[in-house]
Amino acid sequence: MSAEPLAMPAREFRPRDGSAPITIRPMRARDAAAKRDYLGALIEARAGLIRTPEEFQDSTAAVLKRFRQTMRSGGNNGPALQLLAERDQAVLGDIMIRRYDLRRLRHIGHIGIGVHPRAQGVGLGRALMQAGIDWARSTGDIRRLDLAVLETNTRAIALYESLGFVREGLRRGYVRDEDGRETDDLIMALRW
Ligand SMILES: CC(C)(COP(=O)(O)OP(=O)(O)OC[C@H]1O[C@@H](n2cnc3c(N)ncnc32)[C@H](O)[C@@H]1OP(=O)(O)O)[C@@H](O)C(=O)NCCC(=O)NCCS
Repeated sequence: MSAEPLAMPAREFRPRDGSAPITIRPMRARDAAAKRDYLGALIEARAGLIRTPEEFQDSTAAVLKRFRQTMRSGGNNGPALQLLAERDQAVLGDIMIRRYDLRRLRHIGHIGIGVHPRAQGVGLGRALMQAGIDWARSTGDIRRLDLAVLETNTRAIALYESLGFVREGLRRGYVRDEDGRETDDLIMALRW
């Protein structure tokens, strides 16, 4: 399998609330600053994420470095997928599918996804997931997509289940807050 990124044409997404269309397309190096702003807003909102706002100090250079590292992380198994959702030069969402470099794990893609707090609930998360699934199927060798989601994140779990992901296991007490409150973490996967 070639290590070249598979072509992923841009798609136009029409939000359910009738607002202007959003473009879903591969991330490029020059998107690093806009992606940084988006990640800051997502983490500031806290919902669904493990990282606290104090733990997000990334510069644009750090976001760029991680983008490049992630693209290479699959080694001979092929590049990762990093898509952005963009409108008016602002990033409103992203999906990343990482690959492993071990030969016997080449059929796995690991998903990370987010939607900007001001763009949630209009169907963008579903559109990003669908684009990611389409890409994974087009690679020919990925046969399993998996992800981890906090068990309290009912919206995200409903989305993943509606796309065919199944619950595989629970990491109990995976997240522990300052006040001692624990949250379980759910592993979900889609296979074909
Ligand atoms: C989880 C997340 C990616 C979903 O994206 P989104 O754009 O808000 O979701 P969508 O508008 O595409 O809705 C997808 C599905 O979510 C579910 N959903 C949406 N709003 C819901 C609500 N208020 N309650 C329960 N389920 C809801 C529905 O199943 C919906 O399906 P539908 O298209 O049939 O209506 C997004 O909300 C997000 O980034 N949240 C914060 C970070 C996070 O949780 N990331 C995921 C970590 S695994």
